[in-house]
Amino acid sequence: RSSYDLAVIGGDGIGPEVVAEGLKVLEALDLPAKFSITSYDLGAERWQRTGEVLPDSVLSELAAADAILLGAVGAAPGGKTVPSGLLERGLLLKLRFAFDHYVNLRPSKLYPGVPTPLADGVVKDKDVDFVVVREGTEGLYVGNGGVVRAGTPAEIATEVSINTAYGVERVVRDAYERARKRRGKLTLVHKHNVLVHAGGLWRRCFETVGEEFGDVTTDYLHVDAATIFLATDPARFDVIVTDNLFGDILTDLAAAVTGGIGLAASGNINPSGAYPSMFEPVHGSAPDIAGQGKADPTATILSVALLLDHLGLNDAARRIEQVVTADIAARPGLAGPRSTTQVGDAIAAAV
Ligand code: NAD
Ligand code: IPM
Ligand code: MN
Repeated sequence: RSSYDLAVIGGDGIGPEVVAEGLKVLEALDLPAKFSITSYDLGAERWQRTGEVLPDSVLSELAAADAILLGAVGAAPGGKTVPSGLLERGLLLKLRFAFDHYVNLRPSKLYPGVPTPLADGVVKDKDVDFVVVREGTEGLYVGNGGVVRAGTPAEIATEVSINTAYGVERVVRDAYERARKRRGKLTLVHKHNVLVHAGGLWRRCFETVGEEFGDVTTDYLHVDAATIFLATDPARFDVIVTDNLFGDILTDLAAAVTGGIGLAASGNINPSGAYPSMFEPVHGSAPDIAGQGKADPTATILSVALLLDHLGLNDAARRIEQVVTADIAARPGLAGPRSTTQVGDAIAAAV
């Protein structure tokens, strides 16, 4: 391929700020292919102005892109202007579902020299380097539920988690394949001691698919225990596979223990290639620091590396990782925090 169509959604809050730096780095790379970039103004501002969240015409245009880069969507929690969930469900989750992003890939790596809240003894001489394969199209995220007798003392609200054999099998298989290409260890995280219906399906899929991967060592943790080990022994993990909500929660924790949410990258991947995959930092729109130049764009820059890997531009992806590794290692010695654009400028200059 000599050219790619990249759709870009900056979104809300710090989203556009960090995406600008991701694109700066992409443009600074010496690439064997050309990227044609189309930006879409979706998010809180568009909704306030037009009442549109994601028009069908835009969805069709996005479907024709080779990949999507997204910043973040969502207004301030507790904010009154945009109803909570409107953009999250109507834009972000809509894209993940419409484009069948069943592999939500979230790597976590403790880079040398990065400050971590973990005790020295936990990380000394250990490689903390794992990836969470979070299911992206099912579970509690499908919006199956409702409210009866709303606003009364007898109100009942339900959210039903949907887990299909088809959906669980395909994401579990993807995780086994990734484990096989890494250090050969796969951990299933669920809660099958309580969630016996969905948990049973996950456990059976994990065992059955595992028969095809005799070279992969397997392990199981209940999600509550998994949070213990993420804080006390994260080096034990290679690949974790889990459902949509557990994966959401575990990956914020994984980010926090490996240098912070400002470094955590992700890919919403449709492995079949039938739809464009979408790359985004794990973090949100961070209304508390928006517009102040304080957001760390590294997570977005590393998401660009995941995007390049997905398109087969692996040398360019490795180049970003090398430069980011060096940049991060130099940070503790710097006089003070750098602005969003200073970090982007430094990484762009070095790639
Ligand atoms: P958040 O990730 O936006 O912020 C959590 C904390 O991390 C805040 O203190 C924030 O300042 C900090 N932080 C986040 N990104 C940072 C960065 N790049 N550099 C430095 N600090 C950073 O989570 P939240 O506050 O729970 O959510 C805010 C809004 O974002 C909500 O509307 C939520 O729904 C939305 N959200 C969107 C996405 C997404 O688009 N993928 C993800 C998470 C949350
Ligand atoms: C994330 C976010 C989203 C999620 C929200 C904003 C819908 O928290 O990407 O981690 O829960 O998946
Ligand atoms: Mn999240």
